[in-house]
Amino acid sequence: MTFRQKHLLGIEPLHPDEIRSILDLADKYADQNRLPVQNEKVLAGLTQVNMFFENSTRTLASFELAGKRLGATVMNMAMQASSIKKGETLVDTALTLNAMHPDLLVVRHPHSGAVNLLAEKVNCAVLNAGDGRHEHPTQALLDALTIRREKGRLHRLSVAICGDIAHSRVARSNIHLLGKMENRIRLIAPPTLIPAGAANWGVEVFDDMAEGLKGVDVVMMLRLQKERMDGAFIPSTREYYHRFGLDAAKLAHAKDDAIVMHPGPMNRGVEIDGTLADDIHRSVIQEQVEMGVAVRMAAMELLARNLQVDQPKGVMA
Ligand code: NCD
Repeated sequence: MTFRQKHLLGIEPLHPDEIRSILDLADKYADQNRLPVQNEKVLAGLTQVNMFFENSTRTLASFELAGKRLGATVMNMAMQASSIKKGETLVDTALTLNAMHPDLLVVRHPHSGAVNLLAEKVNCAVLNAGDGRHEHPTQALLDALTIRREKGRLHRLSVAICGDIAHSRVARSNIHLLGKMENRIRLIAPPTLIPAGAANWGVEVFDDMAEGLKGVDVVMMLRLQKERMDGAFIPSTREYYHRFGLDAAKLAHAKDDAIVMHPGPMNRGVEIDGTLADDIHRSVIQEQVEMGVAVRMAAMELLARNLQVDQPKGVMA
């Protein structure tokens, strides 16, 4: 098994073989999760703490379920918006938690880089459940597993990532992962939602859906992240839907068997047509949620195998 990481902080530091290791194990869990009885308790005796400084529905539920399926003791800490502070406060929280001896710490935080900072201060395995606009590694992994199961491979595919790329950690993690696995990546968005420097990421950039979607295998839609916008990036949501919202007519430019993805939560009628999102012949949005549990089980199992058993918990390395 080639997974040597102590933490899962992003896709960027991973070797393609490490990505494959997670996906292979997750594939097994995805099949197993469909069976009525699950008996793998590889995290029995371990404590998993979920620390979410930002709202989440599917990511938190999925991490909680993944830990419980594998027999971990799981605790969710409800971090109120009022407790979000930078610097010392975050580190202090981390040290307090560390003293309670968790083995796996799952963290979501609104500031890019906050999870990496935290990982330096604790001696358990840290999983990034999304930090600001930086990375959301388990989302990219579950997207990759969904694509691999749908398309039978995860290389030499043409993938369009459409919408609010500027504010999206999902886009960043997916660009790293799909690039490492040698796929063609196209970004489609109004110029105001394309981050500066995107042209140097080894991707093609478009501001027209018909052109950008031509012949692609996979269409990934992103939510308009209004909470991360501090100015007007689009004229109006109506205008945005008209030009960049995915509907059947725009999807017709992609390959006939192209799949439609969305990390959720969706703004129906803003970035995607509701009927298309529910079309089980094209949309794999529910499969993405299903793969989320399997990928998180696999990631936590691989990190747990790398935990240093000879070091007393709560003592900094
Ligand atoms: C994403 C997130 O929080 O980064 N959602 C998720 O984890 N499924 C995307 C989003 O919020 O738009």
